[in-house]
Amino acid sequence: MNAIAIDGPAASGKSTVGFLVGQSLGFLYFDTGVMYRAVAWAILDRGINSADSEAVGRVAEELPIGVSAPSDEEPDGRQATILIGELDVTWSIRSPEVDSIVSVVAANSQVRQALTQKQRLIGLEHGSGEAGVVMVGRDIGTVVLPEAPLKVYLEAPLEERARRRFIELSQRGNEANLAKVLEDLRRRDQIDSGRAVAPLRPAHNAHRIQTYGATIQVVVNQILALAEKVLGVGPTSTGNWSLP
Ligand code: CDP
Repeated sequence: MNAIAIDGPAASGKSTVGFLVGQSLGFLYFDTGVMYRAVAWAILDRGINSADSEAVGRVAEELPIGVSAPSDEEPDGRQATILIGELDVTWSIRSPEVDSIVSVVAANSQVRQALTQKQRLIGLEHGSGEAGVVMVGRDIGTVVLPEAPLKVYLEAPLEERARRRFIELSQRGNEANLAKVLEDLRRRDQIDSGRAVAPLRPAHNAHRIQTYGATIQVVVNQILALAEKVLGVGPTSTGNWSLP
C-alpha cells in the first residue's frame, strides 16, 4: 500500500510538508482537517450552537463537501479548492472564527464517524492505487488509515507553532494577536489530545520528527528518505517539487 500518514498538533507543519511530499512523489495529497473546518464553517454560517451535538452531527452527515485540485484560474497559493455545494470556502474555513470552534466540532463523535468513514474510503482507494496518497490530520496513523506502511508524527513547541500560525494569519490579511493565537492553539491542543474519540497522539509505530529549527526542505527530505526505505518510492519526474 502506497500510503503516508502524517499527524501532529495544529501548526506543526503537516500541510506544508505533506503537500510537498505529495508533489514530489506524485501522490494524492489529502488534508483531512479541511473537512472538520468545512463543518465548523457551516455551523457558524447556519447559526447552530457548536454545543448542540445532534445538530452539529447532522450537518457533518449531510454537508456536500468537495475537495479538488486548484485550477489554473486560482493562482492564490491554495493547496486544494474546498467547496460546500457550489460555494468556494477555501479561505473562509481558515478564519480565526472557524479556528475557535473547529476542535469542539471535531470532538463530536457523530462528526468523527461521518468524516472518518469518507476519509478512510479516499485513503484506501488512492493508497491501493499506483499513485499513492499522503494523508494529513490528527488520527490518520491511529484510526483513519492504521495500515499505512509509513507514519510520521510532526512535533514543534507551542510557542513556535503560535509564531508560524500568527505569520500565516497576518499574511492572509487577518488581524492576529500573537498571545491570543498561542492561547487558542493551547486550548485546541488540549481538546484534540483529551477527547474520548480518536485523540491526537502518535501511533506506536510512527516516526516522530521535531520540526523546530529544521527548514521545510530538511523535514520534506527526511520523509522522502523514509518513503524510499519503507515504500521503495522516490521523486517522480512528473512530481512538481518546489518550495512555496
Ligand atoms: O491547520 P491546523 O493544524 O490548525 O488544523 P487542521 O489540520 O486544519 O485541523 C483543524 C481541526 O480539525 C483540528 O484542530 C482538529 O480538531 C480537527 N481534526 C481532527 O480532529 N482530525 C483530523 N484528522 C484532522 C483535523
